[in-house]
Amino acid sequence: MNEFYQINLIKDQSSYDKILNAKHQLEMIFDLHQEGLVLLNRELKIIRINKTMAGWVGQRPADVVGKTCYQGLWTLPRPCTFCPVNNIFTTGEAVHGIEETLEIDGQQTFWSISYLPVVENGRVEMVMERYRDITEEKKFFEMQIRTEKLISLGMMVAGVAHEIMNPLSGISGIANNMLNMPERYGINETGQDRIHTILDSTTRMRTILTDLLNFSGPKQYTMKKADLRQLIEKAFSIIHLKGFKDIETSIHIEDEDNITEIMCDSEKILISLDNLIHNAAYSVMEKAKQQKRENNEYQGYINVTLKKRDKKLIILVTDNGMGIFKSDMPRIFDPFFTTKSPGEGTGLGLSITNQIIIEHQGALFVNSSPVKTVFTIELPIDLSEEKNR
Ligand SMILES: Nc1ncnc2c1ncn2[C@@H]1O[C@H](COP(=O)(O)OP(=O)(O)OP(=O)(O)O)[C@@H](O)[C@H]1O
Ligand SMILES: [Mg+2]
Repeated sequence: MNEFYQINLIKDQSSYDKILNAKHQLEMIFDLHQEGLVLLNRELKIIRINKTMAGWVGQRPADVVGKTCYQGLWTLPRPCTFCPVNNIFTTGEAVHGIEETLEIDGQQTFWSISYLPVVENGRVEMVMERYRDITEEKKFFEMQIRTEKLISLGMMVAGVAHEIMNPLSGISGIANNMLNMPERYGINETGQDRIHTILDSTTRMRTILTDLLNFSGPKQYTMKKADLRQLIEKAFSIIHLKGFKDIETSIHIEDEDNITEIMCDSEKILISLDNLIHNAAYSVMEKAKQQKRENNEYQGYINVTLKKRDKKLIILVTDNGMGIFKSDMPRIFDPFFTTKSPGEGTGLGLSITNQIIIEHQGALFVNSSPVKTVFTIELPIDLSEEKNR
C-alpha cells in the first residue's frame, strides 16, 4: 500500500514507468537469486521471501508471507534454537556462515546461513536471512576426508596384515600336518579336537586379514556390464543363507526405462551390497529383539531401490532397524569403527564399501533416523571398459 502510494506520487508518466520497470527487475533478480532470501521483521514475520527459498520448503512466496519464519518455513511451534535474529535487532551486527542441518522432504540437507541487518534511519528495521545449500559441498568434503584417512590407514594396515599372514600360514600348515598324521605326532582324539579349534581360529584370522588386505592393498578391477538387479538378488540370498530370518526384503526399480545394467566390477559391487544389506539385517534383528522385549509389534524390512538420476544410477538401501546415533555418524565410515559386540564385526564393512564405490567413481552417503536408515550409492552409468585396472 505504502509502495503503491509512493509510486503514485510521481506524476511524470515516464519516470513512473521507469521506476515500475526497475521495481519489476529488482523483484525478478530477488526471485531468481540462487540463494534463498527471506526478509523478517521484529516479530520474525516474513515480509518478503524469494521463489528459490519458498520452493526449497515446498511453498509459494504468497503462502508464507505474513507468517513467522519458524511456522511458515519449518512448521515449528517456536523459533529455532540457533536463531540469532533477535540478537541482530539489538546489536545491529551481521552474522555470517552459520552451518545448520535441516530436514527437507525427509532428506538431511546442510545449509550455510547469513543474517544481515537492514538499517533504516539508524535503526535495524528488518533482518535479511540468506540461505545457501551446501549439501553437495559438504558431502564431497566428507568423502575427501574419508578418502585421505583411508589412504594413510591403508598403508599401515597393509604392512601389518602381510606380516601376520606369514606366521599364520605357518601355524595352520603345521596344525594341518599334525592332523593328517596324528599317530606320528602321538596325538589322541582330544588333541585332534584342540587342533581343529586352532584351525577354526586361524581360518577366522585369515578372513579378517583378507578383509584388511582387500581394504588396503592395490586392487584389480574388472569392469564389465552387470545387471544390478541380479546382484541385489544375490546379496539378499547371501543374507538369508547367513541365517537372518523374518525380514521382509524387496527390490523396487523406479527407473522408467528399466535400466539396471551398468559397467562395474560385479564382484566388488556384490561385496558392497552384501556389506550394506548385512548391516541393515543386523540392525533390523536388533530392533526385533528390542521390540519383542517391550511386547511391541514389529516387522523388519530391507528395501533396495534402483533409480536413474541424470547419468547416475542410484541405489538406496533402506531398513527400519535401530538407526544410527547422531554421535556415531561421523565415525561409521572409519575403518575398525563398530558398535557390534567383540567377535561380531571388524568395523571394516563400510570402509571397504566406501572404497569400492570411490574406485567406481561413485559416492556413498547415509541418512538415518530412529525409524529409518538409508544408505545411498551413486554410480556413473557410463563407466567404460577402458577403466579396467
Ligand atoms: N543399517 C545400519 N543401521 C544401523 N547401524 C548401522 C547400519 N550400517 C552401519 N551401521 C553402524 O556402522 C557401524 C560400522 O559398520 P561397518 O559395516 O563398517 O562395520 P560392522 O558392521 O560393525 O562390522 P563388519 O562390517 O566388519 O562386520 C556398525 O557397527 C553400526 O554401528
Ligand atoms: Mg558391516
